[in-house]
Amino acid sequence: MCYKDSYMDSCKIPTVPLPSGQHIPLLGLGMSHNGGYSHSALLYALMKCGIRHIDTAKRYGNEVMVGKAISESGVKREEMWLTSKLWPADYGYENTIQACLDSCKRLGVNYLGICRSIGVSNFLIHHLEQLKEDCSVVPHLNQVEYHPFHKPQALVDYCRQNNIVVGGYCPLAKGQALHHPLIQQIAKNYGKTPAQICIRWSIQNDVVTIPKSTKQERILENCKVFDFVLAEEDVLTLSSLHDGRHVSWDPSDIL
Ligand SMILES: NC(=O)c1ccc[n+]([C@@H]2O[C@H](COP(=O)([O-])OP(=O)(O)OC[C@H]3O[C@@H](n4cnc5c(N)ncnc54)[C@H](OP(=O)(O)O)[C@@H]3O)[C@@H](O)[C@H]2O)c1
Repeated sequence: MCYKDSYMDSCKIPTVPLPSGQHIPLLGLGMSHNGGYSHSALLYALMKCGIRHIDTAKRYGNEVMVGKAISESGVKREEMWLTSKLWPADYGYENTIQACLDSCKRLGVNYLGICRSIGVSNFLIHHLEQLKEDCSVVPHLNQVEYHPFHKPQALVDYCRQNNIVVGGYCPLAKGQALHHPLIQQIAKNYGKTPAQICIRWSIQNDVVTIPKSTKQERILENCKVFDFVLAEEDVLTLSSLHDGRHVSWDPSDIL
């Protein structure tokens, strides 16, 4: 995967080209409902940290507030990457269109969505193979769990062979990775925090990453990952922590 040469003006977060022709910022901010929603933290992310990529979903129940924050921040819609996600109850052609329109309305925007790039989430190889048989468009991005304890390399390889960009969620393993002694030691060696090490590891593996925090100082910390590079041996050491565990959920039983 190659990054666009010119960086986003605000804080130099590189973008990644999608097969749709759009460019997604490599680092975004997760918005899940777990742990709550902080309006002031989102505003801070937009106005002080240069965050231009927000990952939300109908299910998170905060699309209205996210839209409000974007509007209050003064950041132009065309400078923002917004991901929202439909829910299985929205499956089906007409339902999907309606659900996209509803998300746009809640977010106060006139496109997402309707629909410049198409993503799927938690799709394993057999799910993507099935899509290939049934659909005319290959998804542009697949968002899956991705952190040092869960590095699904066969899936990543499959996605890359099929021109699907990989997005990684739970890059901090919901905070669990921050207590691992090896990650703490590597962080110490670089004068960085364990969260920065995990985020940087995702980035160096060319995976779009969306850490979540409701705390301003942590959001800023999580954005400061473009001023250092992990040595290849440290990337490999972090990768060796993979034991396949899920901190979110396991989609392998979904047919
Ligand atoms: N597609 C899917 O099925 C799916 C599933 C899960 C998640 N996601 C997306 O991925 C995003 C991220 O995943 P996640 O929130 O589950 O996990 P995560 O980003 O790995 O971890 C978030 C946790 O780490 C804490 N944290 C964040 N930055 C920190 C820092 N610098 N130092 C210490 N602690 C820190 C947060 O607490 P504080 O808020 O208190 O800072 C929160 O408890 C979600 O928000 C959502 O947008 C998608």
